[in-house]
Amino acid sequence: MAITLAFDVYGTLIDTHGVVIALEKHAGNMAPAFSRIWREKQLEYSFRRGLMQNYENFAVCTRNALDYACSYLKLALGEQDREALMAAYKRLPAFDDVEAGLAQAKNAGFKLFAFSNGSAEAVETLLDHAGIRNYFSGVVSTDEMKSYKPNPGVYSHFLRRAGASGVDTWLISSNPFDVIGAISAGMRAAWIKRSSEALFDPWGIEPTLTMSSLLHLAEQVKQQCKPI
Ligand code: LAC
Repeated sequence: MAITLAFDVYGTLIDTHGVVIALEKHAGNMAPAFSRIWREKQLEYSFRRGLMQNYENFAVCTRNALDYACSYLKLALGEQDREALMAAYKRLPAFDDVEAGLAQAKNAGFKLFAFSNGSAEAVETLLDHAGIRNYFSGVVSTDEMKSYKPNPGVYSHFLRRAGASGVDTWLISSNPFDVIGAISAGMRAAWIKRSSEALFDPWGIEPTLTMSSLLHLAEQVKQQCKPI
């Protein structure tokens, strides 16, 4: 069976901190902290909505988290500025290594999907804007399940949608919670540890592979999949 690669989007292909430049106008040198709080709250809200079974799509988590970050940092941003920041979130940049890494994976014969908490529409727009949509056979959104990662149901949903099996499918993610979620759901997973400071949760569940960028992904996955 062909190997399927499910690429996480926000934080893995697309740099959520790309919004820092847009934030500098409002938050000055607090822009990096703003971006971090915004991202952490966005994820926390998705986890909580999943657990509470009170689903609203990821853009709602993003917008609520933006409002929280403004309150936390005591920044009185008007509605227009908030909408402009939400618009900037739809045009975030890809990390530098992404295009070359995707090209290698595609040339190696792997089947590539984008797999995200973001709605299919938001992900299509992001990938198009970053010029990388053509590498993917499809986009699978957890929105189709009205839930979020790391609910095991969304990983099973991915496998059904991609027509793939867990042993032949790898999640590729920079988000440790996503890597742990995929492995717990029976997939393999590569952790993209772009910063030497990044920490993996000490749960006793380890990534199948860890690498510092997408540039060696194809080669390393191939190596792991060789028959013994
Ligand atoms: C995603 C989240 C994890 O793209 O950021 O699914």
